[in-house]
Amino acid sequence: MSAGSPKRLGILLSGRGSNFEAIARNVLSGRLDCEVGFVFSNKPDAAGLALARELGFAAGCIPSAGVEREVFDAQVAHLLQEHGVDLVCLAGYMRLLSGKFVSQFPQRILNIHPSLLPAFPGLDAQYQALTHGVKITGCTVHLVDENLDSGPIVLQVPVPVLDDDTVESLSQRILKEEHIIYSEAIAWMLKGNYRIEGRRVIKV
Ligand code: GRF
Repeated sequence: MSAGSPKRLGILLSGRGSNFEAIARNVLSGRLDCEVGFVFSNKPDAAGLALARELGFAAGCIPSAGVEREVFDAQVAHLLQEHGVDLVCLAGYMRLLSGKFVSQFPQRILNIHPSLLPAFPGLDAQYQALTHGVKITGCTVHLVDENLDSGPIVLQVPVPVLDDDTVESLSQRILKEEHIIYSEAIAWMLKGNYRIEGRRVIKV
């Protein structure tokens, strides 16, 4: 990451954008010491993209439907680089990244997932947790590699599953924690006081 000037986040999203909003609010209030450099969506109608524009951030969209993954990812990487992005944050970005994209931002891509990985990767993690009958689930911020929800874990928070939970109520309880730990993980990664040993992200 470049030294001196404030670090710049690139946010990739496909939908609602509540994690993006939580991060953006922390940036705008100064609780998170960085800038939002660029917000990208692969879905033109993503609410998160509209919010990014409302908040005055540089934002863009390339519809992904029908475009070959590597070609698409090269275009996204180009946009992020053009905007001087230091750390890429996936915030409900519903696409697997190509190996080539990942290698352009080595250990500089974060994702948030609504379960305690490696339990319940992929879609509908809260539904998976409910139907499996676990008593505790949670959320995970992890570094991204080219496999689904699989890179080294940065932070995790447990969340109880209550007997009368629905997917909706459980998702809401997890989401509250997501909004807190994503900014914490970003702050830590930007500070750089960690080392990675195998799959372990260790504070130094
Ligand atoms: C969150 O639950 C996140 O963990 C998952 O996708 C959802 C995105 O929600 N990766 P939002 O768009 O940030 O509101």
